[in-house]
This record gives sequence, C-alpha cells and structure tokens, in this order.
Amino acid sequence: MHYSTNQGVCKEIQNIKRDQNIKETGKRAMKIEVMIETRLRGRESMNWNTEVTNLLSIQYPIVQGGLAYLAYSELAAAVSNTGGLGQITAMSLPDPDALRNEIHQVRKLTDKPFGVNFAIGQHGRPFSHYLDVAIEEGVPVISMTGGNPAPIFEQLKGTNIKKLVLVAAKRQAQKAEELGADAVMVVGQEGGGHLGKSDIGTLVLIPSVVDAVNIPVIASGGIGDGRGLMAALSWAHRALKWEPAS
Ligand SMILES: Cc1cc2nc3c(=O)[nH]c(=O)nc-3n(C[C@H](O)[C@H](O)[C@H](O)COP(=O)(O)O)c2cc1C
Repeated sequence: MHYSTNQGVCKEIQNIKRDQNIKETGKRAMKIEVMIETRLRGRESMNWNTEVTNLLSIQYPIVQGGLAYLAYSELAAAVSNTGGLGQITAMSLPDPDALRNEIHQVRKLTDKPFGVNFAIGQHGRPFSHYLDVAIEEGVPVISMTGGNPAPIFEQLKGTNIKKLVLVAAKRQAQKAEELGADAVMVVGQEGGGHLGKSDIGTLVLIPSVVDAVNIPVIASGGIGDGRGLMAALSWAHRALKWEPAS
C-alpha cells in the first residue's frame, strides 16, 4: 500500500483536529501550519543519491567537464567543495610539473574528491608523463576523451583510480564499457568543445546510450540549469513502464 504525501497530510490534520488536549482553535491551526511547513521542507530536500554519487563519493550527481585552458585548481576545488566533482584539465597545462602543482593546489583548497581530465592527442603533447603524475599523486578520478582510451586504461592498471570516458556516440560508450570504464560521460551535439561529436542531440543520444550499456551514464550537452538536471536524471531509467491503477 502506498500513501501519497497528501494522504499523509490529511491523516495528520485529522489527528490534530481530534486531539482533545488542544482546546483553542488558534493553537490547533498553528499546529497544522507547523506540520505542513515541516512536510514541505521535507519535500524540498531531494534525495540526490544516485549510482554516480556513490561511485564518485560526491554529494550531487554533477560532474564538471574538462575545459582546456579554463579548468584549473580554483574551478575544480570550487565545484568539489559545492558537492559535485571538479576536474583539472591536464593536457592544456604546459608540462607534467604544472599538473603536479595544480593537483597540490586543489588539495590545499578542498578535501573532497576531484578528477584530472585527459583530452588524448590534443594540444600536441603526449599524455603518458602527465598520467604518471596523476597516478603518483593518487588522484581519485581520471576522465579521458578525444581518442582511443585503451593506452590510458593500460597505464591505469593496478590502480584504484575511477575511470570516466567522455563519448559522443553509442558505439564509443560500448567500447569504453568493454575496456572497463566505471562510467561514461556522453555529450550530445548541443555540447561545447570539439571532441568528435556525432550529429545526434542530447535528448536522443543519452537514452539510447543508457539502453546500450550497463555502467552509469553522465549526460552532457546543453544542460544548463536545474530543469536540464531533472531531465538528465529521468533518462537514467532503463525502461519507463506505465501501469494502469488497479
Ligand atoms: C572551451 C571548451 C573546452 C573544452 N575542453 C575539453 C577538454 O579539454 N576535455 C574534455 O574532456 N572536454 C572538453 N570540453 C567538453 C566539455 O567537457 C563538455 O563535454 C561539454 O562542454 C558539455 O556540453 P555543454 O557545453 O553544453 O555543457 C570542452 C568544452 C569547451 C566549451
């Protein structure tokens, strides 16, 4: 048996009305008001617990994307401190020591989990020495995109660093899952950046990837506010079923 919130409220109002200990109507009204206010407060505080919050040990299911020349320690720490997963973008930093410095800076600014993003083969720099630094520093999460992620998976073998792969197509998501990704981030045509997007919009692409893989899917591409977030959360359901009331 399922009670909706309204049924629960009606029941509590009845109980307050029947309570013989409350003599004055004013006091009774006040009690009802307090009860409703408390219930509304309860509804406001949503349960943000998802596969992604559990996987990444974060409070809200929000992951900051890699942003070349923009995502340094301050942004990463600010996002992580607010309950999402912040990320430093590795490959637009001039050398691996600069990445080490950024990782140290993030750790000074937050004790929350954060990620390091690798855009493979971008900016004309080989990623391997940057990745060595991220592994030595024991960063909690590595995200990757823009090329074949297999060599990164190879280098990460034996670590317990979480692996996220940003993809723009269903087949790429399946490939990431086969390689052992912990989750895929999927970007629709609406997204910014230039990482081999296909012509499929977020609204169509994300549910099709959700149906094609068994790992968590993080949606991106034109999601700019709370309404987009709610839409993304609704896509998490692998199958939406309608059942007539019995
Ligand atoms: C200026 C810019 C730089 C980007 N650089 C990277 C990058 O280095 N690595 C990466 O994984 N994604 C990069 N992206 C893609 C974003 O992480 C993200 O997937 C995309 O912006 C999501 O779509 P939205 O812009 O609609 O939110 C970049 C995007 C922009 C706009």
